[in-house]
Amino acid sequence: MSITKLITSYQKSNEYRKRIHDLIPGGAHTYSKGDDQFPLLSPAAITHGKGSHVWDVDGNEYIECLGGLASISLGHAYEPVVQRVIQELWKGNNFSRPSVIEMEMAEKFLANLPGHDMIKFAKNGSTVTTAAVKLARAYTGRKLVARPIDHPFYSYDDWFIGSTEVKSGIPEEIQSLTVTFKADDLQSLKEIFAKYPNQIACVISEPEKFNPVTKEFLQQAIDFVHSQGALWIMDEMITGYRSYFPGSMVKFGVVPDLATWGKGIANGFSFCCLTGKREIMELGGIRQKGKEKLFLISTTHGGETCSIAAALATMEEFQKYDVIGHNHELGRKYMEGANRIIERYGLRNHIKVMQFPWHVSLGYFDENGNNSWELRTLFHQEMIRRGILFQGIFCPHFSHTNEDVDRILDAFDESANVFKKALEDGWEKYLVGEPIKPVFRRYV
Ligand SMILES: Cc1ncc(COP(=O)(O)O)c(C=O)c1O
Repeated sequence: MSITKLITSYQKSNEYRKRIHDLIPGGAHTYSKGDDQFPLLSPAAITHGKGSHVWDVDGNEYIECLGGLASISLGHAYEPVVQRVIQELWKGNNFSRPSVIEMEMAEKFLANLPGHDMIKFAKNGSTVTTAAVKLARAYTGRKLVARPIDHPFYSYDDWFIGSTEVKSGIPEEIQSLTVTFKADDLQSLKEIFAKYPNQIACVISEPEKFNPVTKEFLQQAIDFVHSQGALWIMDEMITGYRSYFPGSMVKFGVVPDLATWGKGIANGFSFCCLTGKREIMELGGIRQKGKEKLFLISTTHGGETCSIAAALATMEEFQKYDVIGHNHELGRKYMEGANRIIERYGLRNHIKVMQFPWHVSLGYFDENGNNSWELRTLFHQEMIRRGILFQGIFCPHFSHTNEDVDRILDAFDESANVFKKALEDGWEKYLVGEPIKPVFRRYV
């Protein structure tokens, strides 16, 4: 199937873009949804979604590739989730004491996680990663946090953002409490512990990010960190319900001290959680009389019932159907198709298909082999004009179909064609508007 129709109307999007920055700093509630992350020829705002498709304010329709920043694991307005949420909403959404659904959720989520005994709910991933860091500091009596330098994001809180380029508003004392090592590199991990002996409270890391890992590697890393008196926090925000159900810790049969969950576990609803071993989690409890109290997560909306209902319904769908198998199959098809197109256009040195079938990302490189934001923006522009809402990542979910992948690949083919011409004639000739900029940059 060849694609002939290009999206040409972004009039309402342009009006939206003009007004929104007067109202909302950054124009969005996640920097990665912001205007500086998209080409000018792109939707500024979405009105609604159904399954794998979304519609923008101009009425343009797209196949969405990164479903709500990977929070959509089943599909937009996915019937069984919506029905469950509606049922729950009619019973009321927040009470002065815990809702009974909290125990149901706790029991069912933990039943999937051998070795983890307790769970705490929150609305955002950042809240749970920060809570994990706090617990680790209290448990070990140490201050430092170690995180992989080459991983992009763990929290919007100061302990993490202070270790990026964007340090404004974060005191130096706090910046110095996060130290870094090279991801998936045992030697680098050992070096950071040697540099700060008896000072590191925990390592926080995504289990599978850029390189395939093995059970042996993860176990060795965890064992080493334990031998140093520190804790291992496994951040399953992206791997959870994607790499495996429920996540990498079960896939590889390893038990981190704490794990953090969010994104896809409630199909886009705001439900995240921290799980872990009882002796650590219990520090946030109120039954060890006389022990110093630790203020763990305590939020008005943490027990909001409709998001918990969404999480329960999502979990049941994953248990009922082979969602993981479906997603991985589509991801593999996309990876193979993309690589074929790249080969055909002779772009092997310029577009690289990376990562895993459940989270496929592209890297874009210029003639000198340097990462190119200009070429990245151009490729996304061409995909988006062809009805594929694209940020360089395809994260398949249960509503994506084989036909969707065929359409994505058709657009990929035509976009690669433009990309090739841009390599010959210069991207300036093809790109409308400014190139995308990195989220983590010092200056606006
Ligand atoms: C690996 C990882 N951890 C934590 C977070 C923070 O989650 P949230 O945006 O829900 O606060 C993200 C968000 O992108 C993430 O990718």
